[in-house]
Amino acid sequence: MERGTSRMRRIGQRWPKWQPGRRVAKAVGIAEKCRRNSAVVALFKTFSNQMLTSQQSLAAMRMLSNRSDRSTPMLDRLTPKAQPDIRVRLERRLGRRYAQQRLGIEQEHEGQIFGGGINFFHIENWYSIHSLIKFALKTSGLYSRGARNAADIRVRHHHIRHPLVPKAFRAFTILQVSDLHCDTSMLAIQRLREILPTLKYDLCVLTGDYRGRTYGSCDATLAVLKQIRAELSGPIYAVLGNHDTVLMAPPMEEMGISILFNESVIIERGDERIYLAGIDDAHFYRVDNIEKAACKIPHNAFSILLSHTPEVYQQAAHAGFSVMLSGHTHGGQICLPGGVAIKLNAVLPRRMGKGAWKHDSMLGYTSVGIGTSAVNVRFNCRPEVTLHHLEPAD
Ligand SMILES: [Fe+2]
Repeated sequence: MERGTSRMRRIGQRWPKWQPGRRVAKAVGIAEKCRRNSAVVALFKTFSNQMLTSQQSLAAMRMLSNRSDRSTPMLDRLTPKAQPDIRVRLERRLGRRYAQQRLGIEQEHEGQIFGGGINFFHIENWYSIHSLIKFALKTSGLYSRGARNAADIRVRHHHIRHPLVPKAFRAFTILQVSDLHCDTSMLAIQRLREILPTLKYDLCVLTGDYRGRTYGSCDATLAVLKQIRAELSGPIYAVLGNHDTVLMAPPMEEMGISILFNESVIIERGDERIYLAGIDDAHFYRVDNIEKAACKIPHNAFSILLSHTPEVYQQAAHAGFSVMLSGHTHGGQICLPGGVAIKLNAVLPRRMGKGAWKHDSMLGYTSVGIGTSAVNVRFNCRPEVTLHHLEPAD
């Protein structure tokens, strides 16, 4: 590094009018200044060592995240009246140990750009790049078209044919709504509220990402979620996504939305039953526990796993789940013609990035979701609500 630096400086001095050389010399000068910044040094170490355990690296990531409210404990961001209440409600719901662990992990990693999740780089937490993308789309005249596309929701029908579906569950319909990003996708939410009363289904599942941002207040999200809840009927089960805070769980459950924290429930029809399980966020906070979610499900029973991200498809398949329903990827959100995603923000085969797929004997479906993340646009990737129709395979 030292040798390369001085060599580039010599080139700049020898040919002062050689433009590329001057640019490189200038870049080297900037790099030298940066190297004196301890935050970047620590981050450089992280990149070169591929290790995330050193305290110095974590501190550097926090400094670079530039989040003013990061140092404020999560519970302190609530109103003084709500603070003791929410902790008590969380502990009552999750147990003291899990509530404490979940809050601690969230406080530690919330809004982090590098590290922490299944993938290393989290573009959803890099807010300055979102503004840059928005600016580029606006100057190129594409933004308004993308914003219109983002509200153009379609209803998709998906048939799940599986030998373990009990006969009583023939034509049982599950409505899946994913990635609402309630407070930042207002036009899509408005359209969704028009569509929901027209749909017929037996059960509704929400597969995470209710909040627009990945940190801060969830009041606006909960207010919009309450309006959406009013348009839904029947039992509603949900899991949290990487944009959500565990602090949303008690108010959501008060609305009648049951959140599955590595848990399962029985769905009965006549004398027969199927099992529905859900895991906590596996993508960013990595608080999923598939074994715990599956432990009360009998062998050879028809079971559905809700996971915000499909990235844990292998663990789900080997735990014996019949079906896995996910969201998270937004189908790429900004896609090339033909629906080819530029980036899925997930570590998984691209064929699993949207729609139906299969792994071993497990059937999977990744919804492209309703809302948007980073920039409120979609290209070549229409938002969707999904109706899954169960059918016994003979
Ligand atoms: Fe999302």
